[in-house]
Amino acid sequence: MISLLNKMTVEEKLGQLVQIAPFFFVRDLKNELYGPATELGLSLEQIFLTGSVLGIGSPEEMIEVQKRYLDNSRLKIPLLFMADIIHGYQTIFPIPLAMACSFNPELIKTMARISAVEAQTSGIHITFSPMADIVRDPRWGRVMESFGEDPYLNYVLSYYAVKGYQNDNITKEGSLGACAKHFAGYGLVESGREYNTVDISEYALRQYFLAGYQGAIDAGAVMMMTSFNLFEGIPATMNEKLLKEILRKEMEFKGVIISDYNGLKETMIHGISSSEKEAALNCMKAGLDIEMVSGNYILRLKEDFDSGKLPMSLLDEACLRVLNLKKEIGLFDNPFKGVSRDKHNEVVLSKKHLDEALKVAYESIVLLKNDKDVLPIIAKNKVYACGPNLHTNNLNGAWSWHGKSNSNETYHDVLKEKCNIVKNFEESDYIVYFGGEKFNESGEAKSKTNIDFPIEQLEEIIKLKEMSKPIILVINAGRPLVLTAIEKHVDSILYSWFLGTKNALAVVGTLIGDNNPSGKLAISFPRALGQVPVYYNHLPTGRPKNDYDNEYTTGYIDSENDPLYCFGFGLSYSKFEYDELIIKETTVEDDFTLKINVKNDSFMPGFETIQLYIKDTYAHVSRPVKELKSFQKIWFNSNEVKEVSFKITKEMFEYFDNKSKRKIDHGEFIVYVGSSSSNVKMVKINYVGKEK
Ligand code: GLC
Repeated sequence: MISLLNKMTVEEKLGQLVQIAPFFFVRDLKNELYGPATELGLSLEQIFLTGSVLGIGSPEEMIEVQKRYLDNSRLKIPLLFMADIIHGYQTIFPIPLAMACSFNPELIKTMARISAVEAQTSGIHITFSPMADIVRDPRWGRVMESFGEDPYLNYVLSYYAVKGYQNDNITKEGSLGACAKHFAGYGLVESGREYNTVDISEYALRQYFLAGYQGAIDAGAVMMMTSFNLFEGIPATMNEKLLKEILRKEMEFKGVIISDYNGLKETMIHGISSSEKEAALNCMKAGLDIEMVSGNYILRLKEDFDSGKLPMSLLDEACLRVLNLKKEIGLFDNPFKGVSRDKHNEVVLSKKHLDEALKVAYESIVLLKNDKDVLPIIAKNKVYACGPNLHTNNLNGAWSWHGKSNSNETYHDVLKEKCNIVKNFEESDYIVYFGGEKFNESGEAKSKTNIDFPIEQLEEIIKLKEMSKPIILVINAGRPLVLTAIEKHVDSILYSWFLGTKNALAVVGTLIGDNNPSGKLAISFPRALGQVPVYYNHLPTGRPKNDYDNEYTTGYIDSENDPLYCFGFGLSYSKFEYDELIIKETTVEDDFTLKINVKNDSFMPGFETIQLYIKDTYAHVSRPVKELKSFQKIWFNSNEVKEVSFKITKEMFEYFDNKSKRKIDHGEFIVYVGSSSSNVKMVKINYVGKEK
């Protein structure tokens, strides 16, 4: 690629660092533009110098754009096509927050694999996924796109998502380059308000919030997207410390860095860059390689590179990363790699893909309540189905872009097939209420100040309760809702998030016992909005609730501290019993093994996710009351007992101190194992091994 680089003019090099919408190459394409992208100010020849495309609608559209582009390109450097394939291309999988509740990394890898195979037939080469932002605030609309509140779970699932998208390597047909996002800390917007200020310490960033991005990097993600928010008062898109010191040097990221939509220009609105030229300079110096849908690199930096005011090495480095990525993807060998209408028709929404989507949906459902084992219902019994979501097929959730909800079944469609549904509740044995949110109440620019279970649905259910029939509540939502008011009025609650194309079948199959729910919450459910942010890996404080019996301890006068449903919680139709922990030696100086017998004390076979947490009792900084360090999702047959063993490594004891140094100390650690973050067995150990 060096020889190609040496043939390029400054303007051609700058062009490779600009991403625009496909509409600019073929004017009669569907205009997917909005806001800033519409007034790019690029000349026609500059448009045909740009390096990549945001979004493409079909195989034919990609072929037309690439052809038109190459016909007008002096050096025939192919365009790179990128898009948001977040939880499926046309076969839509559960929203990422739901998939995180499966605690099954292999399913996330399957989702990513299938997404890549389908998307590539439309000539897409890079996906802006996984979103690896850790989120503790359900008011934020994009919580649906995250893997939840826990650093370890985020690390693992981001790692597996990248492995799924990129396959063995991104040269292979049917693999997508993964662009992780949004670096860094976007999920911590104040008040959960979209695009709001983020103000976190460098210590907290390292200790908690980089894990997801690191998982993606360790899996070989080829791209990282900067976030809209500030870090230490400077927008991430132009933040040299964040991009060069932390991302490149410390986290060893070697791929391409791209801005989010118009992020370069927004450094002006943040009040840092005073002009478009200064914005371009600031981002270029900070190490931003590609700017998304603004043309300032090509419009504003030419003369500074021509005159030598800016070192050419800065531009060459960025341009070479982009050229090498295009080469690695195989675009120089075949600019139309993977695109094919026939292949598209063969693989998209294929039965194999839909079957996989059902499996993922099954394991993403969380059973939050099941009094008197009302569920599973007996299919032949009479069901009265009602609620605002009974007839909708809009169950894909946000960021399902190419997913057409009209290919989805509704709950009513599937209930008619699988159950004995009756028209009036008098003759029914059960009432099943389908409620929660609509698909467009979460996602980007969908923050909410009120996350209560909808009051009109609560009132309806209270009326139905007078019928004194068992009430089963099925909730679709893109976020945790506050269920405190409703949970006492229903017998069972199935949280079905937005499960994608097979949502209806997955839920009805679970209601009638074809599927035994195994989901565990990847994010805490607050008792009240006033608790937010509430999360399990909180710090002890100097006055923990349980250590004193007086009022002067951390808490509220009108609520308990704990969430309504905690991280890691989820019921099953099976009944799992945990024995005491078995450990040979409680004084340890190296890695060690810990065992526990778990029994399925029921006739219903099913999965249980056994979780392992660790607390570091004394350290150089205050450490969380517990942190997830491992988990195992294991199948149990009827009445089966299994000995589950965990290997505890000293790396699990590692943390960052307030000088961002990695530490491991001697002393007491508490190891917890259980079915959720609050239902655990524990053992104290004394670590006397190597310190850091
Ligand atoms: C959006 C999102 C980002 C997405 C990008 C391209 O504003 O913040 O996640 O990948 O623009 O659509």
